[in-house]
Amino acid sequence: MKIETDAARILSGVRHGKTIGSPITLLIENKDWSNWQEIMSVELRVKSLKLKNSELRTPNSELSLVTRPRPGHADLAGAIKYDTHDIRNILERSSARETAARTAAGAVARKFLSEFDIKVMSYVVEIGNTRSQESGVRSQADEKKLITLFEKAEASPVRCPDKNIERKIINKIDAAMKKGDTLGGIFEVIVTGVPPGLGSYSQWDRRLNARLSYALTGIQAIKGIEIGLGLEMSRRSGSEVIDEIYYRSQKSNPPRPPLSKGGEGGFGFYRKTNNAGGIEGGISNGMPIILRAAMKPIPTLRTPLSSVDIISKKPFKAAYERSDVCAVPAASVVGEAMAALVIADCFLEKFGGDSMGEVQRNYEGYLKQIRKF
Ligand SMILES: Cc1cc2nc3c(=O)[nH]c(=O)nc-3n(C[C@H](O)[C@H](O)[C@H](O)COP(=O)(O)O)c2cc1C
Repeated sequence: MKIETDAARILSGVRHGKTIGSPITLLIENKDWSNWQEIMSVELRVKSLKLKNSELRTPNSELSLVTRPRPGHADLAGAIKYDTHDIRNILERSSARETAARTAAGAVARKFLSEFDIKVMSYVVEIGNTRSQESGVRSQADEKKLITLFEKAEASPVRCPDKNIERKIINKIDAAMKKGDTLGGIFEVIVTGVPPGLGSYSQWDRRLNARLSYALTGIQAIKGIEIGLGLEMSRRSGSEVIDEIYYRSQKSNPPRPPLSKGGEGGFGFYRKTNNAGGIEGGISNGMPIILRAAMKPIPTLRTPLSSVDIISKKPFKAAYERSDVCAVPAASVVGEAMAALVIADCFLEKFGGDSMGEVQRNYEGYLKQIRKF
């Protein structure tokens, strides 16, 4: 619903525009906070909270206990796991509001990556089953086309680069809102400028595809990830989906190989397609990295859903709390942040040093090496 415009303030870790090694603290103020000081008090404010769970037989308004788990949220599973009958403790922590902090941290990673011409972008390809004909560009090899899509998405209220579909999506969201319903959808995260060689096939947890999937499914409500052509690959034959390898000697004319950094420097290997989405054998192959994530509809609806009170064990219809109808555009920005954090980690594992100059030198040395390969 966009009731807040967030701004991040840097409190520590940066001096005169440069990091100094202490943790970078970023503060995002929640303007609603002042209304919640009593309920979220650190000190015990209400004596009766000392009651044991077994004594909490009836909901007591003075305690502000939340005893009605919302379906589709962490509420019930979380209350059982952490043995509390006040779901407030679960719902506040499991809320996707914390993704504001991840997005802010992702901005630091993104700034670092921009020093190496690595761009992390995203856009929405479908909401509520409304999608463009091609539904994204899962096999796109041309970086410039991807950047254009991103620029269009940035100018769209629903982060959709296709004007026709944008209108349909907006209508769909409005219709869902009128009905008291919610919508999910799919967004794509693209990373361009990644050199070949990030990640590894040698251990399962070093595979770049695995690390990116982990980071993206770590966002609330994300139910599936595809890389490149993704699930569609399983439906086609090998000759249709495997990206063939070509070589162009440095003297040959453009079209320049789509291989981003390596390509510009004259690295002669290239592919005409990018069904792999920029990752082969757990390693970046120099093509744009293309990820897509599927988000479930927001579980808080105005249309009441059935649930059961955890103290009285009586059924009730879930009460509506202020909530969005569709958060796919917002989640796509969180997806960018998560991808930026993973790529920055992998980049530093390979080229890390104690100053930007050192990292630059390491990186340039590697580019020189692969140009001669
Ligand atoms: C950016 C973003 C915004 C969200 N906004 C809401 C919201 O306004 N209301 C809501 O009920 N769920 C919202 N969600 C979804 C819930 O956080 C999520 O579905 C819930 O935590 C359950 O977790 P799970 O779906 O991963 O199992 C949002 C998720 C994201 C990523």
